[in-house]
Amino acid sequence: MTSGALSPPIVITDADFLKFREYFYRKTGMHFDDSKRYFVDRRLIERIQATGADNFRNWFIALRFDARGAELQALVNLMTVNETYFFREAYQFDCMVNSMLAEVVKRKSVGQRIRIWSVPSSTGEEPYTVAIYLLERWALIDRYEVEILSSDIDTQVLEAAQEGVYSTRSVSQMPPEYVRKYFKPRGDREFVLSPEIVSAVEFSRVNLCESADTRRFRDIDIIFCRNLLIYFDDLSRRVAAEAMYDALSPGGFLCLGHSESMSRISSLFSVRRFPDAMVYQKALKGDRP
Ligand SMILES: C[S@@+](CC[C@H](N)C(=O)[O-])C[C@H]1O[C@@H](n2cnc3c(N)ncnc32)[C@H](O)[C@@H]1O
Repeated sequence: MTSGALSPPIVITDADFLKFREYFYRKTGMHFDDSKRYFVDRRLIERIQATGADNFRNWFIALRFDARGAELQALVNLMTVNETYFFREAYQFDCMVNSMLAEVVKRKSVGQRIRIWSVPSSTGEEPYTVAIYLLERWALIDRYEVEILSSDIDTQVLEAAQEGVYSTRSVSQMPPEYVRKYFKPRGDREFVLSPEIVSAVEFSRVNLCESADTRRFRDIDIIFCRNLLIYFDDLSRRVAAEAMYDALSPGGFLCLGHSESMSRISSLFSVRRFPDAMVYQKALKGDRP
């Protein structure tokens, strides 16, 4: 900066917001309605300043022509809402060990693979809860090869997940005996997850609305897709529903967050009511309905 001159403040106009919203929706499936304007503007300004661009227009041109996709990824990492914690909506994990797995193993022989996919993982609390539940509460764990896969579009949360260091808030809903068993305290406020649990989960970056990312997920027995569809509009929900349908084995189960539903989105799945939870299921036989 020379002679104390200040650069003009960066302004996001209504037209900029609409242009950005349409582009970001096409790339991620995430839709920002007008009520999110303040949240979006603040983050856009942060990115524009971080890249040294002097206005939205120049930054947006650079974003679209960035073949490596690094700026889009930085933006995604900033725009996602990553709220999660261990044992969140635990009735579905109860349902997994008490009911869903009993049906899954009916179709398998001892020693065969069971695949569980937690998408989105955020910082890893959900897939690690799956691992701890299986070890603690599923008597047949040693008889099958269980694979836990987990994915998110945000590369920053994936890094955090693989580090496995959590806050007091993150573990506050867990039974204290599990916290003692699976974590080492670090200082007053951090809990380091045991390496055996960290290595039980395979993380990868996936955009659930992008078939190039999801087509390698096949033969999945149970999908946890919780608290993601709330950020999508109906069209991206449908794309995600089809990707998960194709990923599941016949008879495979899908768990959504408590405020999410397939009813308006897709007739691909049927509803199963178990004592612990209501979940969705892919038909045992046949092609897409
Ligand atoms: C609120 S967290 C949910 C985490 C966890 N499933 C839970 O319920 O506690 C939502 C996550 O969805 C991820 N996400 C957003 N759009 C996505 C997409 N298109 N594909 C995959 N993950 C996405 C975000 O990065 C964020 O980490």
